[in-house]
Amino acid sequence: PSEEFMFKHKGFYFLPDLANPEYIDSLEHFVIRDSDVFVVTFPKSGTVWMQNILSLIYYESHRDGTAKTETIDRVPWLEYNFNKMDYGSRPSPRLFSTHLPYYLAPRDMRNKGAKVIYVARNPKDVAVSYFHFSKHAFIFEKVPDFNILMERFLSGKGKVSFTAKSSWFDHIRGWFTHRADYNILFLTYEEMKKDLRSAVLKICDFLGKRLTEKELDVVVEKATFNNMKSDPRSNYEDKTCILKKGRDNFLRRGTVGDWKNIMTVAQSEKFNKVFNEKMKDLPFKDRGTL
Ligand code: PPS
Repeated sequence: PSEEFMFKHKGFYFLPDLANPEYIDSLEHFVIRDSDVFVVTFPKSGTVWMQNILSLIYYESHRDGTAKTETIDRVPWLEYNFNKMDYGSRPSPRLFSTHLPYYLAPRDMRNKGAKVIYVARNPKDVAVSYFHFSKHAFIFEKVPDFNILMERFLSGKGKVSFTAKSSWFDHIRGWFTHRADYNILFLTYEEMKKDLRSAVLKICDFLGKRLTEKELDVVVEKATFNNMKSDPRSNYEDKTCILKKGRDNFLRRGTVGDWKNIMTVAQSEKFNKVFNEKMKDLPFKDRGTL
């Protein structure tokens, strides 16, 4: 299936098997609890990584390896209820993830105390990650040439990825400029890579969770790329509706600056130009540092 197969609703693309316009509209009135935690990302920015970290922080059984539950069921997608869970009857604290732009997110996220963790990543690496991902995912059109994908990514017109209309720029701008309305923590993929332990501490502080040093060590250890890569729960292993078989697909490389392996100098310069224009009034330096 290609994007033709997706439906567009209020500027964003969605998968018809998992959502419909009424459901997306209903999310505006989704009942929020003060204890809810939302991971908000543009696709390919470190969603699964943060889902796993939250799961490790909140669930001892995940930390000690006795959990059978997949990460995606611990931190399910708000807009894609894969396993038809009754979100209203989930025990608190509920963890969710979403790619929604701020204007489609539940209204009460603004007014109540729900906590929001926004993970941003250098958009060059986001575009490259998506380019590779599109080869393995059933749900996306395979883009044969990186240049085509990059042009779509930069113009915001092309259908780069599901849920997102495609504009990384709009997504981050929306959430960032409305940050005062939310109880929100901005983190970057790059800072998590640089010092995962400090990032986890920051997250725990924000969530008001106190872990012992030992527990913290376990969270950090289990959230490393290599450990997650060998953990089927983190790999969307049985989500064959999304990914073709093969475990390497989801956790692909997990590095900072992989764009250098694919972008030409001209492409990189063009990217910088657009980035600088679109982001000039926002404090995002160096395409990934807040
Ligand atoms: S999705 O489809 O939107 O949910 O994808 P998302 O999880 O946001 O992003 C996938 C990229 O995140 C990388 N990843 C990690 N990097 C470092 N450490 C850990 N633990 C980790 N877990 C996931 C994953 O490999 C994808 O990036 P690329 O660059 O393609 O490897």
